[in-house]
Amino acid sequence: MSHLDLQDNKAYQLWVDRKQDAYEKRSKNDFPLIIDINANGEISEQSLSVLKDHINSYNFALYQLVGDVVDHLASVKQIGLQMGLKELDKNLCAREDRVTKLMVTEHGRGNLYIPYSNKAIGWHTDGYYNPMHQRVLAMVLHCEQPAEQGGVNDLLDHDMAYIHLRNENPDFIRALSKLEVMRIPKNIENGVEIRPQTCSAVFMQENESDQDPVLAMRFSKRKRNIIWSDDSLTKEALASLFEFLDSNSPYHVSYRLNSGEGVICNNILHTRSAFTDSAQNTRVYYRARYYNRIKI
Ligand SMILES: [Fe+2]
Repeated sequence: MSHLDLQDNKAYQLWVDRKQDAYEKRSKNDFPLIIDINANGEISEQSLSVLKDHINSYNFALYQLVGDVVDHLASVKQIGLQMGLKELDKNLCAREDRVTKLMVTEHGRGNLYIPYSNKAIGWHTDGYYNPMHQRVLAMVLHCEQPAEQGGVNDLLDHDMAYIHLRNENPDFIRALSKLEVMRIPKNIENGVEIRPQTCSAVFMQENESDQDPVLAMRFSKRKRNIIWSDDSLTKEALASLFEFLDSNSPYHVSYRLNSGEGVICNNILHTRSAFTDSAQNTRVYYRARYYNRIKI
């Protein structure tokens, strides 16, 4: 029995109270708190404890590199390591070292995919199309250079989406926990299959240790390339989820990263607004995806 067990309302309620308490206690002036990290990505003991505390409560934290940053990519990798993140995902457009540089790409494979354009990206968790043995459980998204205009990220702790749905109707959680509820057709480029079809649940329980299971979410609001189960309960559950995502709940956070700032998270829900680059301000981000969660 655990808080994610639909039969265990007592454990669930304790968890909900803990989550809501954390959101209620935060101060309007310092949320989201932006935690200092040395320019080379080294995290002091004090910052590490604040980062972990924040992630434990909200599943994400924001940081800023302090000082002259020589190599943003090296700092991102250093941050991941100190947060216990070791297993980097190898996605199609990642560099050799498995960290992806995100900027508008006119040529090559990158221009087939929205992250490499300046278009808006709707609510999703990263790697929702990955095979089940390569689930993305954590992510660092880091800004080297913001765009001239736009490129704002909305962030939402997926625990709060689960709580919203379970409070509406526990059957919504049952529907979205079915292993075949979301089907992503295979990815074919120039007639060659580069990723097989994947079927997965939206809500999943991860058991990383002998402690209580934790919640992971695989989701994208985009309509193309996702085939949802066709039953009425799934449709109702999705309608409720979409409505919550598009609302302005107390748990939604909107932030535009400045140079040297980043988000570290347990692959929470997020968006990106459209942006415009200029010759001086070309948006450059780094994204590292991991197969394990942040070590608290
Ligand atoms: Fe993303």
